[in-house]
Amino acid sequence: MPKGLNSTRETPKTNIVPQHIAIIMDGNGRWAKNRLMPRVAGHKQGVEAVRDVIKACVERGVRYLTLFAFSSENWRRPEDEVSFLMQLFVGALEQEVAKLHENDICFKVIGDVSKFESKIIRFISDGESLTANNTRLTFTIAANYGGRWDILQATKKMIAQQKKSLEDYQEEDLTQYLAMSYAPEPDLFIRTGGECRISNFLLWQLAYTELYFTDALWPDFDVHALDQAIHSYQQRERRFGRTSEQVLQPATHKPSEVVVKSDA
Ligand code: IPE
Ligand code: IPE
Ligand code: MG
Repeated sequence: MPKGLNSTRETPKTNIVPQHIAIIMDGNGRWAKNRLMPRVAGHKQGVEAVRDVIKACVERGVRYLTLFAFSSENWRRPEDEVSFLMQLFVGALEQEVAKLHENDICFKVIGDVSKFESKIIRFISDGESLTANNTRLTFTIAANYGGRWDILQATKKMIAQQKKSLEDYQEEDLTQYLAMSYAPEPDLFIRTGGECRISNFLLWQLAYTELYFTDALWPDFDVHALDQAIHSYQQRERRFGRTSEQVLQPATHKPSEVVVKSDA
């Protein structure tokens, strides 16, 4: 996690546009079912919503957009649906990466990509290299991602590389190995599709993120719906354990001293 952006230290203002938005794009299957179409038609339509949301985030000055596209648990779906999702991913990578680059957008993928077929792995790494120096927006796709996987892989790297005494490990020792260590923690989390759960998304990073749940199904999630979520975020007061008074008067933001009296 970049220095100074850890949620336990800073109190970001909420009356501005969130700098990092993370979204669970849910409800594609139900969108299709409502139209008597196969589930996969919903996934196809969902790609259109992705395009619109990227554009809107750029226009609003959001710096990081992270979308959950395929969870480590989604392999449990019927084989033909998984295979369709993979094809859709390949197609989107083929068609969209050049456009992202033209628009100065940095493209990243987080998750255990080693489980994907070699063609997808190549497209991902080519896309990441091509767009690595772009700065307008960092657009991350979470693919074969799971928050528990992320914490475990980071822990393994930390232990292998740092070799400290157990008592010396700090949170920062771990966070530098998390898959999204290049980004600040999300300010705003959005889940479409009506379910109120995290589904193993960014477990560590969502610790103090503002959560927003909407019944809108992902293919229906448009610029107006995004603005509603941002508006809701802008009404929140982020306290990170402090009192409201402390947040409103940041000058008095000193940690309180705990005076431990020795027993008389
Ligand atoms: C989200 O939509 C897309 C993925 C998980 C890939 P769903 O496919 O979960 O849609 P519902 O929840 O069944 O409607
Ligand atoms: C979460 O959606 C994962 C993605 C959007 C990629 P799911 O539809 O798989 O979530 P659960 O399993 O219903 O919680
Ligand atoms: Mg779902």
